[in-house]
Amino acid sequence: ELKENTVIIVLGASGDLAKKKTFRNNFLPKDAKIVGYARTKMDRAEFLSRAKSSIKTPTKDIEAQLAKFCESLSYISGQYDQDDSFQTLTKHLEDLEKGQKETNRIFYMALPPSVFISVSEHLKRNCYPKSGIARIIVEKPFGKDLGSSRELQRALAPNWKEEEIFRIDHYLGKEMVKNLLILRFGNSFFGATWSRHHIDNVQITFKEPFGTEGRGGYFDEFGIIRDVMQNHLLQILTLITMERPISFSAEDIRDEKVRVLRAMPSIEPKNVIIGQYGKSLDGSKMSYKDDESVPRDSRCATFAAMVAYIKNERWDGVPFIMKAGKALNEQKTEVRIQFRDVTSGIFKDIPRNELVIRVQPNESVYIKMNSKLPGLSMQTVVTELDLTYRRRFSDLKIPEAYESLILDALKGDHSNFVRDDELDASWRIFSPLLHYLDDNKEIIPMEYPYGSRGPAVLDDFTASYGYAFSDASNYQWPVTGGN
Ligand code: BG6
Repeated sequence: ELKENTVIIVLGASGDLAKKKTFRNNFLPKDAKIVGYARTKMDRAEFLSRAKSSIKTPTKDIEAQLAKFCESLSYISGQYDQDDSFQTLTKHLEDLEKGQKETNRIFYMALPPSVFISVSEHLKRNCYPKSGIARIIVEKPFGKDLGSSRELQRALAPNWKEEEIFRIDHYLGKEMVKNLLILRFGNSFFGATWSRHHIDNVQITFKEPFGTEGRGGYFDEFGIIRDVMQNHLLQILTLITMERPISFSAEDIRDEKVRVLRAMPSIEPKNVIIGQYGKSLDGSKMSYKDDESVPRDSRCATFAAMVAYIKNERWDGVPFIMKAGKALNEQKTEVRIQFRDVTSGIFKDIPRNELVIRVQPNESVYIKMNSKLPGLSMQTVVTELDLTYRRRFSDLKIPEAYESLILDALKGDHSNFVRDDELDASWRIFSPLLHYLDDNKEIIPMEYPYGSRGPAVLDDFTASYGYAFSDASNYQWPVTGGN
């Protein structure tokens, strides 16, 4: 249930929560209060105007909500490494909580890694609630590799119990990602085909049509693999491949996730290609290295494609191809499961079935299916079984990922957050590759034009792991209603 008398304290990046549209649908408990805390000196009025400016207000309705939301906001400026500052924060919290018997405090850490440990210690010492619940929501980056991730864990552990920690991976809050377990385990026809016996290969793709504009500083230190693959794409892969959990409880789900991650050997460099975007072909978009916050000789990958394997009975031998890139030709996150060829004999060159689960934009699940072309001949044609959310659920509001996750944290539901051992297991899969790329200075990412599909070798790369481009690729999924 939702706790009443809750204060959410947002540490760092003033206005950050608002920016992420967290409160768009007004799902928060009515009496919840939000306190911003950061180093920047500003008064409440300025904090409000900043918060407001990052929320789009298309309708009158939302404007009224926004006004109400603003009533719950306040702001305290302070340092990240001084007890006095955190005492001032506590004083403010006590004022807000006056007259309440229970005080529930949720600390949302929207902070750079450099101050993360210090803030978590100061919070525990100065701001931990005397009664009621304490929760700490942490944002990535959770370290840069297995070693640094463990260091962060060790620093948090003496102060915060695992049940108080909510590590956010916002992809776990996305509607279609939350649907994966239901699709798999709620449909026998999917369940029955879900293994190496029927699936040839799986692709998980993340594409963005923009570069690192304005975020070069952060990005250059991390790169696309740490930015979206070790977390967002691996989470999707985990949900696609884990065994059925004993129940939908958070620990049962996370137990199975950890189990499948442990069956995944670390990614081998020979199964990886990396790229970095150059100028767009028409010259209108600058290259990654032209970004002023990026070093001239940066070897940072803005694109990567790699193959993971799972050494268990269900998946042995099936390549899981993960692809992610910035400054590509479109925005899209999807899972594409390609089934094996039907046995030969009666058909010649009949295309494979594909199940596509589109996470965004325009959520949908469709299967490319062979059918008889209606008429007198026995010609086959590729058709589709198609669930497009917009058409099927046209009246439903889909919550923003952050919205749904913050509510889960308020309710104390850990199902869609990353457990400590899960984080460890995920870094173990990527760390050797990351070290290899960081240490070998002669490895230079392949350049691809801003706005293209990625490095030229990409199609050969995916084909070499068995992905079959079929002639029916003149087949186009009929996107209804556009993107
Ligand atoms: C973030 C990454 O975690 O996810 C960004 O740091 C990326 O680089 C973003 O753009 C993508 O999230 P979404 O929800 O816009 O797909």
